[in-house]
Amino acid sequence: MAHFLPLSRVARLVGESRSAIQRRIHAGELATFDGMVEMGELLRVFPDVRWEDDGEFRRVEEIKAKAFARRVYERALPAKEVLAERLFEMGREFAAAKTLLLHYDEVLRFLDDKLDDVAEAGAARPAVQQAVIDLKLWLRQALAARPSDTERAQALLAQENVMRIMSAQVTVLPAGHEFFVEGNDTLLEAALRAGIPLNYGCSNGNCGDCRARLVSGQVKKVHPHDFVLKESEKAEGDFLLCSYTAVSDVVVEAGIAGADDIPHQEIVTRVKAVEVLNERIAVLHLTAPRSQRLHFLAGQRVTLAIGDSGGELSGEYPVASCPCEDRHIELHIQRDNSPLARHVFEDLAKEDRVRIEGPRGHFVMKLDSRRPVIFIAWEEGFAPIKSLVQHAMSLEIAESIHLYWAAGSVAASGGHYQDNHCRAWADALDEFSYRPLDAAGGAEAVAESILALHPDLRRADIYAAGPLDFLHVLQTGALARGLSPLGWHGEAR
Ligand code: FES
Repeated sequence: MAHFLPLSRVARLVGESRSAIQRRIHAGELATFDGMVEMGELLRVFPDVRWEDDGEFRRVEEIKAKAFARRVYERALPAKEVLAERLFEMGREFAAAKTLLLHYDEVLRFLDDKLDDVAEAGAARPAVQQAVIDLKLWLRQALAARPSDTERAQALLAQENVMRIMSAQVTVLPAGHEFFVEGNDTLLEAALRAGIPLNYGCSNGNCGDCRARLVSGQVKKVHPHDFVLKESEKAEGDFLLCSYTAVSDVVVEAGIAGADDIPHQEIVTRVKAVEVLNERIAVLHLTAPRSQRLHFLAGQRVTLAIGDSGGELSGEYPVASCPCEDRHIELHIQRDNSPLARHVFEDLAKEDRVRIEGPRGHFVMKLDSRRPVIFIAWEEGFAPIKSLVQHAMSLEIAESIHLYWAAGSVAASGGHYQDNHCRAWADALDEFSYRPLDAAGGAEAVAESILALHPDLRRADIYAAGPLDFLHVLQTGALARGLSPLGWHGEAR
């Protein structure tokens, strides 16, 4: 019986990104059948992976070790009912496999008897009789022999089973995005964590914007609020992504939000921290209310307002965090002459209220491209680029990611004020490169130094944020090197 595994699970099992697995498939190193990988093929292509001390087992060990840390427990382990259903489902599969094995056993016994009959009937023809005896001998030996690679195959199956108990894989049609649901997450929460911007509005079952249709697999209601759907719609397989979780691997039909689909919001956040990195840059960390997280796409901007109607300070800033970060919102504030910047640097304190309005802008990630992505930031243009880079990392679809950041001195513009984050990404990911550049050379020199490293841009997407003159030279040079006009995404600062 061949055993097939979906690509996302293969990526997790071998500890590689989905894009790295896709590259192996395109290079002909790894064979697939209907988008799935057969277990023997997996063992052949990854002979060095030690399944038994890998990912999911370690995670279970970690959970056991922290069994009394309730938050970790809640975040990592599925609800009891979901666990029970997954175990029940696995039990059914096990029972089906065992029934099949018993059936095969009977067929083999029958075959054995039949071969005896044939041998007896062929007594007059010694050659036929000998062939039947040889066949029986071979059959016995083949059944008694241990299949090759048994231990690794068992470890792999055990690892996969643990993974299937701890998480469920979701495929979203028609876009084809995939993600895992873990812990107590609803399908909506899990999708957003994975950087997949599914359509949604209220997050609490009132608007119906997150309606999806179940194509296959099993989902379970974990929040009671799905009154917005009629019983007839539910009977047809419609459900709310914000109310349900996945019990088994599922395929759903759901809408992906574009920049124009996101409603305008106004939310009141609390200051979590003001991190003054140097004399020019402060990083503002805000926390959205539990009931009203900010719905935005990576790369978009918001208006920040502090104070009351009597004396409100406001300004527009790109969001630097990723929508996958749940309630956390990060903004980079440059010290200019604005009263708002002065207030953030000098007076704003933990727990202060900050009003956020938005989002705006179309400088967002193209979700259907699997090509290499080049992110380019000029000075504080790094903020939206940071959000996009994190989004690209959580999506895991880009073939490779290159990040360039041109900045002047700390005194002039804040310098490469989060250089450590960029270096950490490059250290952690194989397909990620980072190069800080000196903006003092001017727009043309910086653009030229980047383009010289990418002489052929026919298969690339560029996302660049900076002053207009820099974007202009960069875009002209990139198009001259074969970049498709659709592959250019610029945000003037
Ligand atoms: S987001 Fe409003 S009902 Fe789910």
